[in-house]
Amino acid sequence: MMKHDSWWRDAVIYQIYPRSFRDANGDGEGDLAGVIEGLPYLASLGIDAIWLSPIYRSPNNDGFYDVADPRDIDPLFGTLADAELLIKEAHAAGLKVIFDIIPNHFSSDHIWFQEAMRAAPGSAARARFHFYDGRGESGELTPNNWNSLFTGPAWTRLPDGQWYLHLFDSSQPDLNWDNPEVHADFEKTLRFWLDLGIDGFRIDVSHGLVKEDILVDHRDPDLLTKALRIDTTDVTAEQRADLLSDMPFFDRDGVHEIYREWRKIFNEYKDRMTVGEAFVYPTSRLANYVRPDELHQIFNFDFLLIEWDAAKIREAASRVISELATVGAPPTWALNNHDSPRLVSRLGSLAKARALALLTAALPGSLYIYQGEELGLPDGDMPVSARKDPIAIRSKGADLGRDGCRVPLPWSAHQPHFGFSSHTPWLPQMSSYGDYAIESEVSDPESSLNFYKKTLEIRKHHPALGGEGQITFLESEPGVLAFTRVPGLVVVANTTDGSIQMKLEAQSILHQSGHGVNYVADLLDLPAHTTVWLQR
Ligand code: GLC
Repeated sequence: MMKHDSWWRDAVIYQIYPRSFRDANGDGEGDLAGVIEGLPYLASLGIDAIWLSPIYRSPNNDGFYDVADPRDIDPLFGTLADAELLIKEAHAAGLKVIFDIIPNHFSSDHIWFQEAMRAAPGSAARARFHFYDGRGESGELTPNNWNSLFTGPAWTRLPDGQWYLHLFDSSQPDLNWDNPEVHADFEKTLRFWLDLGIDGFRIDVSHGLVKEDILVDHRDPDLLTKALRIDTTDVTAEQRADLLSDMPFFDRDGVHEIYREWRKIFNEYKDRMTVGEAFVYPTSRLANYVRPDELHQIFNFDFLLIEWDAAKIREAASRVISELATVGAPPTWALNNHDSPRLVSRLGSLAKARALALLTAALPGSLYIYQGEELGLPDGDMPVSARKDPIAIRSKGADLGRDGCRVPLPWSAHQPHFGFSSHTPWLPQMSSYGDYAIESEVSDPESSLNFYKKTLEIRKHHPALGGEGQITFLESEPGVLAFTRVPGLVVVANTTDGSIQMKLEAQSILHQSGHGVNYVADLLDLPAHTTVWLQR
């Protein structure tokens, strides 16, 4: 049964962090040949698509989100021919392929920035970025008081005295989207990869391209920086709402013009999609990005941060669903990604993580899974000296950054480096990672992996799941979340520390996140921190 008219509307999309997925050439770093080797595993999960974090030429100061040539593959990952082969083989295995695109900034190694550094102030080469004279008597002060999201000022000065803007690392100069040359270059990049056969793009910092009032100071840049950390506890909800609803460098209305242009390009191709990364406030503004003539999907950050709390989950889910319904866009759900702590570590419990995953998989729309999530993998830990994230480096370890969720995957409990590579991996794996090895989990019926597989298998075939059909929340006692999807599914999650009973009309248990669920004579008995799917 076709539940939708476009594959992406309820697709299950698996995020690959290529550097940490699988290393085929034995240099301690994952590569495209490793992804190709992993295709049978990926296909066995029951997913629809893979999204690869960036693999373009880069000096790698920010996990390849600092792109020096967006139309070539970094030698660390392989060659353009490897990328073509991956696309072909993934398609043959029934998987769509999504690449990342990074339009907010280039690497300072990009030829444009190299030209800009050699060119004079006021030149066409500098007009592709945001170059300004400084303030103060001899221009020694930054043009404004904005901070980099990676700590420190958002400006770096060249020897000739001019400053350039970088919202992230100093090696990631922001592009000037008022310049038509920037538009033309990105059109070229989009078409380059679309012509090569990819099925879509994840758009990095999609809310960041347009800047306003560059020469005006922000009223409280330090507090704004804190508010922008997604896992922050340094600001109150009111402060955050106030600061994030008006940011001179994020979520300006002009950004939508760019996506209208891009959508026209996408519409020339068949069945392609885009998903934007946008951290905006209020979340109702996310809907602006997925109007029918803009992007196809947008991430919401709510579920990356959500607590294991029935009321909070219900509030976030119903808000996201209804906000996106205003423009007819499908919601997306992600519990992990390469920028956030892994769910198991964040919630501190595998039972809670599984229960939240099962609940989330029953929501309408599209589901994102981050590599290792299906194994129940916890975050890695390592000394500051072993960390590679510019956040850890720029803050000198005051902020440990995002390496914990980027540690290479364990494939086998018995091989060196857990079968990820024959060489020491670029980030150290935890000794406990053997317990989560793919090889072991495949053969353990109780493993997270087999739990995820069964979840996706049911989701694919059940007429109420995936799709964008109606969801109705049921009244339930505090700490319990219950909803129905039509036709024929009831979902109940118990977020409390004790078991609960609930009177409910259904036929039988379809799937559960743990053990010990009972359903007899209309009475559901649900253990603590467990979710159940019931057939109605
Ligand atoms: C996005 C990426 C993150 C990167 C940043 C700058 O938020 O997900 O990994 O550091 O953009 O490109």
